[in-house]
Amino acid sequence: MKAKIAVLAGDGVGREIVPEAVKVLQAIGEKYQHTFEFTSADIGGQAIDKVGVPLPQETLALAKQSDAVLLGAVGGPKWEGLEYSLRPERALLGIREALGLYANLRPAKVYPNLVDASTLKREVIEGIDILVVRELTGGIYFGKPKGIEKLPNGEERGVNTEVYTTEEIRRIGKVAFEAARKRRKKVTSVDKANVLESSELWRRVMIEVQKSYPDVELHHIYVDNAAMQLVRNPRQFDVMVCNNIFGDILSDEAAMLTGSIGMLPSASIGAKVGLFEPIHGSAPDIAGKNIANPIATIASAGMMLSYAFKLEKEAEAIEQAIVKTLDMGYRTKDIQGPDTRVVGTTEMGDAILRNLN
Ligand code: NAD
Ligand code: IPM
Ligand code: MN
Repeated sequence: MKAKIAVLAGDGVGREIVPEAVKVLQAIGEKYQHTFEFTSADIGGQAIDKVGVPLPQETLALAKQSDAVLLGAVGGPKWEGLEYSLRPERALLGIREALGLYANLRPAKVYPNLVDASTLKREVIEGIDILVVRELTGGIYFGKPKGIEKLPNGEERGVNTEVYTTEEIRRIGKVAFEAARKRRKKVTSVDKANVLESSELWRRVMIEVQKSYPDVELHHIYVDNAAMQLVRNPRQFDVMVCNNIFGDILSDEAAMLTGSIGMLPSASIGAKVGLFEPIHGSAPDIAGKNIANPIATIASAGMMLSYAFKLEKEAEAIEQAIVKTLDMGYRTKDIQGPDTRVVGTTEMGDAILRNLN
């Protein structure tokens, strides 16, 4: 097949990990005779520095004309002082919204060899396989009114609004139930229905959606309890469906069950062009040192093959190459352990490349 892939490396470690994933996709293209055409464009702080805005029109146009988008990360201390509408993070929200990517899939599973890389005990995390389904274009990230306003007394007021419509909840619910059908058939809907009306509606709609999926169990959990249960007994979860902000927070927590946030990939889907990115950020504390873990990004490229192009065999080849590389003892610093071989970002990418079948 032929596919156009937009490559948006962004800032910080984004610039180091994305080339590793491109390398792997290129090798897949050669091995399996697909033509992947890569076009890079600016996003985030790097775009601000060049053209003054975080999401240049050309970048968005490129994404829309592509078959899929591979993204690294955006943001960093350099741009933290900017007004909100001009900050790197707006680019991420902007591109998700503009492409209509309302569903963000964040799978957290622990590779057998990494069980001891987690800060949690082996018996707690062994065998975990969780899919966080995060609503991505609604909720408090996008709800209005929003902004910072001056009050007559000279004080200021910062406002964000959590809003969900029935339809927004229904469509993310369906994504979660469809995914659960192919897994262990259990959806846990995360909410704060004891306090928030938007969550009350969320819970009601999830109950409605479940009626079309009698083969899938639906459980409800309050988000504070969910945060606790994720570290107490994470194996109880199969698919967790969350609003935008709860999904953001709980997926970082779930990442630590796998050993490192550098392990967690994601797929943002729901419209014509999907976007694939690691869940972590630009990691300014380790950027430029060739020590960032590229596995989350390489696995995101794997999700692209599966979700955007339906290339299941090729996606599985990436997965197997990651497993083999970990089995051989290769580790980046974030997942290092006894009797392992600590390598840099590029060396990890190279090792995965060599292990591709
Ligand atoms: P972060 O995810 O960038 O980093 C959190 C911690 O995890 C850091 O200690 C970092 O070194 C480590 N880490 C992250 N990725 C890693 C990797 N691949 N390998 C090894 N260690 C890794 O979160 P943060 O520090 O809160 O945010 C930094 C910047 O990134 C901020 O500007 C934030 O807004 C932005 N951000 C962007 C995205 C994105 O682009 N999707 C996501 C989260 C944060
Ligand atoms: C993520 C990030 C983003 C989010 C930020 C950087 C806008 O944390 O992709 O998880 O909150 O969605
Ligand atoms: Mn996040």
